[in-house]
Amino acid sequence: MRDLTPLIAESLPSLVNLRHDLHQHPEIGFHEHGTAARVAERLAKLPGMTIRTCVAGTGVIATLDADKPGPCVALRADMDALPMTEETGLPYASRVPGCAHACGHDGNVACLVGAAVVLSAIREELRGPVRFIFQPAEESGGGGRLLCEAGALETPPVTAIFALHAWPGLPIGAIGVRAGPAMAATDTIDIVIHGSGTHAAVPHRGVDPILVAAHVIVALQSIVSRNLDPAQPAVITIARVESGTTYNVIPDRATLCGTLRTLSAGTRAQACEAIRRVAERTAEAYGARAEVRLTPGYPVLTNDAEATAHIARVGRETLGADCVREASVSLGGEDFAYYLQHVPGALWQLGASASDGSALVPFHSPRFDFPDAALPVGVRMHCETVRQFDGSAHAHSVSITSEPLSPRAQAKQYGQNAD
Ligand code: NI
Repeated sequence: MRDLTPLIAESLPSLVNLRHDLHQHPEIGFHEHGTAARVAERLAKLPGMTIRTCVAGTGVIATLDADKPGPCVALRADMDALPMTEETGLPYASRVPGCAHACGHDGNVACLVGAAVVLSAIREELRGPVRFIFQPAEESGGGGRLLCEAGALETPPVTAIFALHAWPGLPIGAIGVRAGPAMAATDTIDIVIHGSGTHAAVPHRGVDPILVAAHVIVALQSIVSRNLDPAQPAVITIARVESGTTYNVIPDRATLCGTLRTLSAGTRAQACEAIRRVAERTAEAYGARAEVRLTPGYPVLTNDAEATAHIARVGRETLGADCVREASVSLGGEDFAYYLQHVPGALWQLGASASDGSALVPFHSPRFDFPDAALPVGVRMHCETVRQFDGSAHAHSVSITSEPLSPRAQAKQYGQNAD
């Protein structure tokens, strides 16, 4: 097999330029027009590439050698930025006020473009077609679901799908993998407390919804500690509280907004029931009424065991045995979960911190920036994941976690309840 090192080295300066360009011009979900145009322009120059643009708005789907027989492997990158202000002070910092690539999706895109460039150069070696999926709106909006509905996994049908995400906390050159449930289902919580407004100096003439809201917030925090199995991860966060207009008026109502994160269908159902009960009955105890709305968000992200073993094996061979780490579960959400409801695959973590951990800046921090030194690692891993996929990765299955259920059974169980 051809050594990819010179091909990756040759493409690198142009990928760094692309990433800096994307970083300077971030776009939020479903508005990635400039990003999609830059991606499509680069893909159009590659031999053997069939390209669909404007999929679900701004998505770009390209297939290398669509007619080739053999398993079709898909690779996915998310393109959207966050509605926040960057504070890196970098020469290529965002030029768009209130918008920044603080989750590293600029790097995810550059890695995937790099993979397309390199794989297209070695296309005669590949055993089947390769699908490159550049999706809108991962941060919110569920672009992944829309792309699945728009046929991103069809014609030819995708056999397995893989994606990387830059991961602060893992050193550059290392990767993190985890089979089974790895990232959380994200449900949104909306609670309206209906009280009865009155003068602030005569509270006994009304029902103060702000006091009730305070009790509801405290009571909700007992659910994770007292109602749910401590061995099953869950988070309830109330992230927004709104009520009142001035100093001397008790308002009619208060609203609370937040998120529920769980990793299993059972915990999710129990938590939803408890949130409803605790909010409604706490409000009732104080003479108010709580209206609770729980809206399902992204499903649990469940990595396929064989696909995860494939990534781990490729990582050990490509980067070295000590560079493949078992990832912890994260209660963050990821809409890659939608693809995994249709085909087996795995999301893996691309190390994005200096090896001594000194420069650790978390995701969604105004100071986060995808490190360029991680680009060649991402490109190489993407390429080897495809090149070494022979459709019988199952035969090489390596157990790297000890989940009680088989991952297939988990995928089925959580998938049915997730969306
Ligand atoms: Ni992200």
